[in-house]
Amino acid sequence: MAECIVSTETLLAEATRAFREEFGGEPEIAVAAPGRVNLIGEHTDYNDGFVMPMALPLVTVIVGRKIGGEFSTAITLNKDADLPRKITIEMPNENALVRTIEHSGPKWGLYVKGVIANYIGPAPPAFQAVIHSSVPTGGGLSSSAALEVSTYTFLDSLTGYTNTNSNQKALACQKAEHQYAGMPCGIMDQFISVMGKQGNALLIDCRNLSAELIPLDDPEIVVLITNSNVKHELTGSEYSTRRKHCQEAALILKKVSLRDANESDIDYLKSIDANDTLIKRARHVITEIERTAIGAVALKEKDYNKFGQLMNASHNSLRDDYDVSCPELDQLVELALQIDGVLGSRMTGGGFGGCTVTLVHANVVDQVIDNIKKKYTGNPVFYICKPSDGEEFYDHPKINVQLDMHRLFIF
Ligand code: GLA
Repeated sequence: MAECIVSTETLLAEATRAFREEFGGEPEIAVAAPGRVNLIGEHTDYNDGFVMPMALPLVTVIVGRKIGGEFSTAITLNKDADLPRKITIEMPNENALVRTIEHSGPKWGLYVKGVIANYIGPAPPAFQAVIHSSVPTGGGLSSSAALEVSTYTFLDSLTGYTNTNSNQKALACQKAEHQYAGMPCGIMDQFISVMGKQGNALLIDCRNLSAELIPLDDPEIVVLITNSNVKHELTGSEYSTRRKHCQEAALILKKVSLRDANESDIDYLKSIDANDTLIKRARHVITEIERTAIGAVALKEKDYNKFGQLMNASHNSLRDDYDVSCPELDQLVELALQIDGVLGSRMTGGGFGGCTVTLVHANVVDQVIDNIKKKYTGNPVFYICKPSDGEEFYDHPKINVQLDMHRLFIF
């Protein structure tokens, strides 16, 4: 069976209990933001290309309240988080032109600090907060974006500021990750964590940040996520090396980005004897952007066979041309594809471990899980994310209602 996803209500209840124990009294604010799985369009966001993620029912929640003074305290209940799990943050001076916050302390705290530093709007007041999450850390499902976006939403609740649009919010969170986590990520993860909508994947044009909802709510079709439980560290050099190679290829082709290139440009790179690695990286990005655009049409037409084939081609390209897969991910994809009724399977996210995403007919999903359990050499964890109960972005009123329900029924 697949992992039972801890509900947002349970996370909120646990975070509220911890808040009472730690700080005494009640939290006044509760927010949540989801992780994501990317269906297709990998390593295309920082090339101005298309991506098509969906938000997950795996979320990060924050409960807390405003306090007086200059020092905030935040606690994480995430057992995988690095120590210490309690931090104090000196809040930036209200009148400072640039908000500076020290870059020290555990990694999870750096995301929180980065978002405070990049928050648009009035300087946030000091706060007490408890953070809790069901998004696996380092599993390629954007635990960092979920933390950034939930922090941003928490700050919005603290300040009451409502003039920031979704794009600005996503961009501020992306900046936080660049500056405070040292990860030169694209915009996909933060964008979908802000903009995800239940029952839909989101086709995002990362050039102009326009987005189109693509319905994915067929009860016969299931999105199965399999965590390889091999952890990757994207801040390592590999991600930024890929970025640099893409920029180099675009420069040779005299394009602003690889979004402007097409398959004839690959022939050109070959004809001038460009570096082999560069050609492979460019070929992945150029073909992946094309696959994503075609995939969006296929999904709209409910042509799941075609979409599945594109997912398979995406995996092969990530494995062979972009070199970001690993034996565990390849094995998971292979094992999924052994079962009739599997439409497509691929690694998802940055790569070097993390998860695969498989599109499968609902009636055979248990067979896929059994097959992987029997034959996979690692320790897999499965999440079935039927889009019907999948992607949600919880805004404050909804969370507050849920929290009230907890007060009524749980405590
Ligand atoms: C990570 C980054 C994203 C994107 C993916 C690869 O998740 O945060 O911006 O580049 O890798 O598609």
